[in-house]
Amino acid sequence: MKISFAKADLPGEGALVVGVFEGRVLTSCAERIDQLTDGQLQRALASGRFTGKRDQTLLLPAPSGLAVQRLLLVGFGKQEKLDSLAAEALGGTILAQLQNAGDQQITVLLDDHEDAPCGGGAGLAASMALGASLRAYRFDKYRTKEKDEDKPSVRKMVFALDRHAKAKSRFSLLEKVVAGVTLTRDLASEPANVIYPESLAAYAKALDEDGIQVEVLGEKQMRKLGMGALLGVGQGSERESRLVVMRWSGAKDAAAAPVAFVGKGVTFDSGGISIKPAAGMEDMKWDMGGAAVVIGLMKALAQRKAKVNAVGVIGLVENMPSGTAQRPGDVVTSMSGQTIEVINTDAEGRLVLADALWYTQERFKPKAMVDLATLTGAIIISLGDHYAGLFANDDLLAEQLTKAGKAVGEQLWRLPLDDPYDKQIKSDIADMKNVGGREGGSITAAMFLKRFVKDSKWAHLDIAGVTWAKKDGPVTPKGATGFGVRLLDRLVADAYED
Ligand code: BES
Ligand code: MN
Ligand code: ZN
Repeated sequence: MKISFAKADLPGEGALVVGVFEGRVLTSCAERIDQLTDGQLQRALASGRFTGKRDQTLLLPAPSGLAVQRLLLVGFGKQEKLDSLAAEALGGTILAQLQNAGDQQITVLLDDHEDAPCGGGAGLAASMALGASLRAYRFDKYRTKEKDEDKPSVRKMVFALDRHAKAKSRFSLLEKVVAGVTLTRDLASEPANVIYPESLAAYAKALDEDGIQVEVLGEKQMRKLGMGALLGVGQGSERESRLVVMRWSGAKDAAAAPVAFVGKGVTFDSGGISIKPAAGMEDMKWDMGGAAVVIGLMKALAQRKAKVNAVGVIGLVENMPSGTAQRPGDVVTSMSGQTIEVINTDAEGRLVLADALWYTQERFKPKAMVDLATLTGAIIISLGDHYAGLFANDDLLAEQLTKAGKAVGEQLWRLPLDDPYDKQIKSDIADMKNVGGREGGSITAAMFLKRFVKDSKWAHLDIAGVTWAKKDGPVTPKGATGFGVRLLDRLVADAYED
C-alpha cells in the first residue's frame, strides 16, 4: 500500500474518512462534509450509538453531494487524549475497516490548525500513517489460491491536510522504522524449513546494502573461540550454527564505544532430547524472534542514518533431537570458561546467549548491551501478551527502556534480578545448571544470563509473550508483531545518538 500526503481537496473516488470527537463533535473537516451533503452527517449521528468515542466507526455508503463511494466517520475520542499512540491506533483502525471494502483509495481528511491534536495536523497525519502502514502488513507469499475478492482492495492511502509537506517529511523518518519492523515480521513468519542458521545469516548479510558491516562466524571459528554452550545446542541439528555480527557506524567519532544488541536466534526449538509436546510446537519457528528484532533494528538505524555506533550480534542454532544431540546431564564449557550442567535441553536460549553476550562485551566493550529473547514460557504466565519482561543491572538503562517502550506502545515491566534467585541454578558438578525449577522461571533464566555479563550495563528483554499475536491489534495484524524494533530504535534516538 502506498501512503501519500496531499492538499485538503476532496477526492473524486474511493473512501473518504473524517473524524468526530467524543460527544458527536464534528472536526472542522467533518463539518465541511456535513454542509456539502446537506446535513447527512448530523442526521446519521442523531440517534445512533456512534458518539465519537475513540476507534468507533460509522460507515455511510455513497452520500449524495460527494463523489466518493463511501464515507467513514471515525471516533477521535477526547481531543486532549489524542496523542501519537492514539493516532497510530486510529490509522490502523481506519485501514482495517476499509482495506477489504472494495475501494482502491482511502482519503483521510484532517483539520490542520495549531491546536489540532498531536501538535497540529502534520503530527496527527504522520502518526496515523505510521499506524496504517504497520497494520497493513501481510505475510502472504505462500498463498497461491487466494481469490481477488479476498485480497485487500486498497492500494493508496492519502492524508489530505494543509501542511501536507510537513506531514510527509515527518513520515519519511517513521517509514524507515516500518521497513525494519516489516523485515523482522517477515523473518519471524518464515517457517523453519526456510529460515535456518545459514539462511538467516544470509538475510542479515544482505544488510550490507544498507551500509552495515556484516561478519558471519561458522562453527569452526566458534569452536576456536570456545563457544561450547552455543555449539552444544546446535550439535543435534543437520544445520550448522552461525554467529552473526552486524555493525552500523553512524556516530561522529567512529571509534566511540557502541551500544550493543544481542538476539536469541533459535531457528527451531523442538526442545532437543527434552522434547516439547506436539501441541503448539509449530510456534517454535519464531524462537528466533530476538534475532529478527536485532536484524530489523539494524536496518532501521541504517536507513534513517542514526548518529550512533551500534552492533547487533545474533546466535543462530537449531535445537533438534538426534543421535548427535546434547543429552540432559551433559556438561559444556562456555566461552567465559564457566561450565554448565545441561539439565534440560529445552532451556537452550540461555546457552546460546551465554556465549553471544560474552563475545559481545569482550570484543566491543559496549556502552550498554541489551539482549532480546523468546526465553521463557514463564514470562507468558506472568505478563501475558501486553508487556515484555525487563531485567537490568542498571537503573538508568531500565528507566530509559521503560520510557522508550511507553512512547511507542511496546511496554516493558521490570522484574527482579536479585542474588537470592541465583541459588536456584547451583549445580552439584559444574559452575551452574541451566534450569532453576518452576518458581520464578523467567527470573532464574535472567540470573543465568547475568553470570555471563561482567561489568557492562546490561538489560535483558524476555519477549516470549509479545513476539507473536494470536489476535489482531490496532497496529499489529495477528502473527509476528516485530515487538522491540520500534522500542530500541526509540531508545537509541533518545539516549544514544550524537
Ligand atoms: N523458546 C522457549 C520459550 C518459549 C515458550 C517461547 C513459549 C515462546 C513461547 C524456551 O527455549 C523454552 O523452551 N523454555 C523452557 C525453559 C524450561 C525448560 C526451564 C520453558 O519456558 O518451558
Ligand atoms: Mn526451549
Ligand atoms: Zn527456545
